[in-house]
Amino acid sequence: MKGLNVLYQYQKGITLHFIGLRTQNWVRLEGQKLVFPGGGTSFPDGVKGYVHALNKVLPVTLESGLIRTVLDVGCGVASFGAYLMDNEIMTMSIAPSDEHEAQVQFALERGLPAMLGVLSTHRLPFPSRSFDMAHCSRCLVPWTANDGLYLREIDRILRPGGYWVLSGPPINWRVNYEAWQIDSMVLEKEQNMLEELAMQLCWEKVAEGEQIAVWQKPTNHISCIHKSKTLISPKFCNSSDPDNGWYTKMTACIFPLPEVKDIHEVSGGALEKWPKRLNTPPPRVRDENNNDGFTLKTYTEDTRTWERRVSAYNAMLKSFSSGKYRNVMDMNAGFGGFAAAMVKYPVWVMNVVPFDAKSKNLGVIYERGLIGTYMDWCEPFSTYPRTYDLIHAHGIFSMYINKCDITDILVEMHRILRPQGTVIIRDNEDVIVKVKEMIDKIRWKGTLVAGDQNGTFDPQMILLVHNKE
Ligand SMILES: C[S@@+](CC[C@H](N)C(=O)[O-])C[C@H]1O[C@@H](n2cnc3c(N)ncnc32)[C@H](O)[C@@H]1O
Repeated sequence: MKGLNVLYQYQKGITLHFIGLRTQNWVRLEGQKLVFPGGGTSFPDGVKGYVHALNKVLPVTLESGLIRTVLDVGCGVASFGAYLMDNEIMTMSIAPSDEHEAQVQFALERGLPAMLGVLSTHRLPFPSRSFDMAHCSRCLVPWTANDGLYLREIDRILRPGGYWVLSGPPINWRVNYEAWQIDSMVLEKEQNMLEELAMQLCWEKVAEGEQIAVWQKPTNHISCIHKSKTLISPKFCNSSDPDNGWYTKMTACIFPLPEVKDIHEVSGGALEKWPKRLNTPPPRVRDENNNDGFTLKTYTEDTRTWERRVSAYNAMLKSFSSGKYRNVMDMNAGFGGFAAAMVKYPVWVMNVVPFDAKSKNLGVIYERGLIGTYMDWCEPFSTYPRTYDLIHAHGIFSMYINKCDITDILVEMHRILRPQGTVIIRDNEDVIVKVKEMIDKIRWKGTLVAGDQNGTFDPQMILLVHNKE
């Protein structure tokens, strides 16, 4: 997927105060088009050189298939994620709405996975052990403040053996402090605190290049537990589910990794390389004590069902290969079967798992090498208006009909959907009929289609909505 130097038509609706964005070479206005040259605060010479430098210091290469899910904290316009996408790496780029303008909106307009997100008081909306790599290039997060609360959150969401990549202050401060115009003593103190914190987390520093430092989370906690018996730190959390990522306060402790029998075992189970990882049953499904009662058989059937349904959608919408759709959202992603079946098309899918779904499978989705977030559809989604080309709503209305006003959910979908975008609503017939009435009221045009496609009976119905605006 090439999302790097996408040009798009400068829309009158977007207010641009280019000062911050332009000086960092994030984006340029050329005539009526916006150009993303791949610049960044930490990569003034371009993201290509930056990723090249990262590849030199990482113990595994970015092309190896061993790194597939990445979290970029404080992403700017997501140039880092854009570049990684060319290596089939999926980056969840997050940043808040702050003085850096609508950076996440720019990222999404470029056709890159991104959402509003901030390290503040609550956990990030992801399960534990999700990301193969987490990255911050000068992302301004005070990593060592509050007893290292934010770095501990990174530890929670990193997969066993995952990498933490940090560039910008204080990394290699001896060389850079003058250019940064920051007091060298302040930087030295910050670096020491960072090293101490990484040690408490039992991370190993694997590299420190010219501008980038890389730590690795252990693949299991055998030595870390041993250390905790002899030293005061690390502090292991003894309560609360590590996978809770919805309105859950962060805590200054380390979540113990699933137990292993020997030092060479990967906690929670090792993953295949991408792309084999996509359709190999994920360890969380194979784990009978922890899979919410789902069997391997259910999972395999689910994968097949979505392959069939996506192929029917493809025929209905006259081909996902056409480039018409790029940013896709699955509002109730289950095991990620819809997204897995969409991988062959030039699209990316934001897999959304309602925080109170019967089975919370976001961890499984990440193990497949796909990305997503927890969500409560009675609330607005952390994105800008008109940012998704295709929204897939499977069973959402049945799930929410007694929780909140489903018109509010439709209005939120209307806000998120791009002009000329499409919504596929798949649900039980009685619910679909109600939704159709509401859709007519908000003056969307919906067409009812039978759920059974390609000769296979399906009791659900489909409501197709094209946004003609
Ligand atoms: C100087 S910019 C760097 C952007 C990008 N990483 C680059 O190198 O071009 C700082 C970024 O950190 C983000 N940021 C600041 N505080 C943050 C926080 N607490 N959590 C997440 N992102 C934060 C800003 O919104 C912005 O995206």
